[in-house]
Amino acid sequence: MQKVKKAVIPAAGLGTRMLPISRCVPKEMFPIVDRPAISYMVNEAIDSGMTEVLIITGRDKDAIEDYFDYSPEYDAVLTAKGRGDEVELIHGEISRGNIFFTRQKEKKGLGHAISCARSFVGNDPFAILYGDDMIFSEIPVCRQLADSFEKYGRPVVGLKTVTKEQLRKFCSMKAEPIPGSTNEYYVTDMIEKPQPGEEFTDLAILGRVLLTPEIFDILDNTHPGAGGEIQLTDAMAEYARRYGMTGLEFEGRRFDLGSKLGFLEANLYAGTKHSEVGPAFTEMLKEFVKGL
Ligand code: UTP
Repeated sequence: MQKVKKAVIPAAGLGTRMLPISRCVPKEMFPIVDRPAISYMVNEAIDSGMTEVLIITGRDKDAIEDYFDYSPEYDAVLTAKGRGDEVELIHGEISRGNIFFTRQKEKKGLGHAISCARSFVGNDPFAILYGDDMIFSEIPVCRQLADSFEKYGRPVVGLKTVTKEQLRKFCSMKAEPIPGSTNEYYVTDMIEKPQPGEEFTDLAILGRVLLTPEIFDILDNTHPGAGGEIQLTDAMAEYARRYGMTGLEFEGRRFDLGSKLGFLEANLYAGTKHSEVGPAFTEMLKEFVKGL
């Protein structure tokens, strides 16, 4: 089975749930302690064995590209202060893998953003990391998906069981457990933002999928759906109905950085785990909670 070497991170959305700040700071650049969210996603892809990462940006998102470039002014100041080892550390971090950028010129939805990856993807399988979905896990989630792809040879959607209320905001899977597996399903359909009564199961896609290039022809023929946007889910649903997909209930804790609560929670979680400030922050948090 072909190895998965490519990843795509769509990061061109407006982020209207995070207004007013998203007007001038892309939500994918929001800090998780001391690094932008998108750097965690690039690391997840590289740690999963992917070597080429395409980030889909748009107008007012230049900060994303700048982050993955050198900063000679900072480098000079740090070196002069005897902190050259920090410069090396930063250079190492931002130079992992081959990172490419392209622009989605009109914000017509996630499905449309993925269409912009067509020439980058070519004939290869590729992982998609939703740019505002942060997942902390033992094994990087893209690796978990790639293992499943290499086992069954079918596109894979990353799943979690969610509440009925949450399901209204996500998409519901028509899925049967794969015999002999505790966390894999055979998916034959899905519905985006189901109304009560429309849902198939409580399994929803959360933040990571692994697709094959057949999706692009389907996307070309996908009409605007929920919210008037070209929905990736609608194209994946068509794929699932035609050929079937694998659903993988992945191990990991997921945070929605596109929502205020999700962003705050992600920082609390990452703060407590941080190698430098984690223990002190945890103590601070315990004291803080006592006063609530
Ligand atoms: P969301 O579904 O959260 O959409 O995108 P959004 O428009 O950014 O946010 P809200 O709903 O207005 O708050 C999921 C991911 O897909 C990207 C986003 O940047 C985000 O990382 N996306 C979304 C695009 O790249 N292009 C789009 O047209 C829409």
